[in-house]
Amino acid sequence: MTQRKNSLTGVKPSGTPHIGNYLGAIQPALELSKTYKAHYFLADYHALTTMRDPAEFRHANHELAATWLACGLDPNDVVFYRQSDIPEIFELTWILACNAPKGLLNRAHAYKAAADANTEAGRLVDDGINMGLYNYPVLMAADILIADTDLVPVGQDQKQHIEITRDLAIAFNAIYGDTLVLPDGLISEEVATITGLDGRKMSKSYGNVIPLFAPPNELRKTVMRIVTDSRRPEDPKDPDQDNIYAIYKHFATPERLTEVRELYLNGGLAYGKMKAELFEVLDAYLSPMRAKYDALMADTVQIDTILAEGAVKMREIAARVIDRVRMAIGKTTVAGAEKVGGK
Ligand code: ADP
Ligand code: TRP
Repeated sequence: MTQRKNSLTGVKPSGTPHIGNYLGAIQPALELSKTYKAHYFLADYHALTTMRDPAEFRHANHELAATWLACGLDPNDVVFYRQSDIPEIFELTWILACNAPKGLLNRAHAYKAAADANTEAGRLVDDGINMGLYNYPVLMAADILIADTDLVPVGQDQKQHIEITRDLAIAFNAIYGDTLVLPDGLISEEVATITGLDGRKMSKSYGNVIPLFAPPNELRKTVMRIVTDSRRPEDPKDPDQDNIYAIYKHFATPERLTEVRELYLNGGLAYGKMKAELFEVLDAYLSPMRAKYDALMADTVQIDTILAEGAVKMREIAARVIDRVRMAIGKTTVAGAEKVGGK
């Protein structure tokens, strides 16, 4: 049997997930585990570039891990871990950094945007910018290269980071010989954009989201806030211009969707009723996931245990890759050297 190729998905902990994240990112990433040897991790140390509050950091990581598990990630089937549990990633980060042209990182979009904003505002170019932000792409390259990753599913905004990863791997291989596997990005198309309560892209920054795990009463209230026009029930309506339908179509059965479409087009559909139906469909779809999420969040030791077990699996993979890298650069070692001077 030929070895399955490796896919890898990293997500930074950042706030409560919504159904746009689920349909646009989580579900497609989980699908990959059917055809790839899939790796999923919490990019927790990437979050340190902006997160300073330990309680928030802890909570955001538990929230993110519980989300993946509740959405169907099976830790027995895939490799699921926390970046900070894999020291090999940080060793590789340094080695890559030593061959990363500073000019390349000057052009990385997050740093460049912050530097440009400073210049525009008349401040010093690097005002308030930490080295974590600057080195962010190198750490991300190490995340990817440490797993011999073939494919990285990411949004458009991460495309440049994949290119930088490839550049760093190519540079390393040119100096030290063929050592690191070159990854490809799988860039998700914007067509899959889920719209929010107001018809714009569903996004935390627009405040128009339907949270994935809100309790039923909150979910109902949120659905009721979907913006509609003032057409009366008997008026014909265009389903493709309606914010309720835009969400509903992702969750309804094909049969019911056909019926509802007819009601829109022929008249006879009240927005209030449609919202109630959307709530029912969403609630039925989300409630098993919500139950799992709530159970995990009520027992975070269970989450930490799953992540610790995942880290053991991942460190075996990472150890093989970092050994290859150490050999390539000419580092010599003796078995057990890491224990010398220890207990
Ligand atoms: P937000 O815009 O709410 O801050 P993020 O930028 O954290 O969301 O997105 C996390 C992931 O979810 C990304 O991969 C992104 O492509 C996906 N995503 C976010 N919003 C949507 C949406 N409305 N439709 C489809 N995918 C989305
Ligand atoms: N930078 C990614 C983001 O903000 C998160 C991330 C970190 C990542 N390391 C990764 C994504 C490795 C894919 C592969 O969304």
